[in-house]
Amino acid sequence: MSRSELDIHPVINERYSPRAFSDRTVTDHELELLLEAARWAPSSMNEQPWRFLVTRRGGEGHSELLAALNPSNQRWADKAPVLILVMAKRSLSRNAQENHHARHDVGMATAHLSAQATALGMGLHILGGFHADVARKAFSIPEGMDIVSVIVLGFPGTLEQLEPDLRDREARRSPRKPLEEIVSYGRFKD
Ligand SMILES: Cc1cc2nc3c(=O)[nH]c(=O)nc-3n(C[C@H](O)[C@H](O)[C@H](O)COP(=O)(O)O)c2cc1C
Repeated sequence: MSRSELDIHPVINERYSPRAFSDRTVTDHELELLLEAARWAPSSMNEQPWRFLVTRRGGEGHSELLAALNPSNQRWADKAPVLILVMAKRSLSRNAQENHHARHDVGMATAHLSAQATALGMGLHILGGFHADVARKAFSIPEGMDIVSVIVLGFPGTLEQLEPDLRDREARRSPRKPLEEIVSYGRFKD
């Protein structure tokens, strides 16, 4: 289901944040393609501050990461075959100073991963609704790593597998602000 009326690339136009995931597993190769796409994102001073902790349903770390999610996210994210904890290295490798662009660059890498996932027909839902402190403790993540998001990943499922309230949300595509509201030319317009 495309969303923009303009002719933007399908990996952008067809992406949405699904809540229904099928039983189909994600192969190691598919996962590698997604992480490889993330790896080639641009970053300030080529610092590449992104770090990904990948967990597979039924495998090591999965139940711990799932337990860190808000219940409202757990109720559908538990069906997805892969959960990824996304982190940002806070300091620069070259001088240990704070990397002010770390979260920006991690967002870039996540966007690459998302585009590759869409190109492969996969569904990807980014979450901020989780307890970072719970994840930090469960995986002994050092303070120097900022915990940014959790990616829920798999192949899209069907509406029928969702509870009724989630079905409506899944069937709808979220709108966007018009370009006039977010873009100004030549001078700043609020
Ligand atoms: C950083 C971030 C945090 C998000 N957190 C949640 C979340 O906790 N739960 C949820 O259901 N969706 C979450 N989302 C998904 C957004 O709600 C969704 O991207 C937005 O409504 C636009 O819809 P679309 O992705 O289908 O275009 C998050 C997205 C981002 C980028």
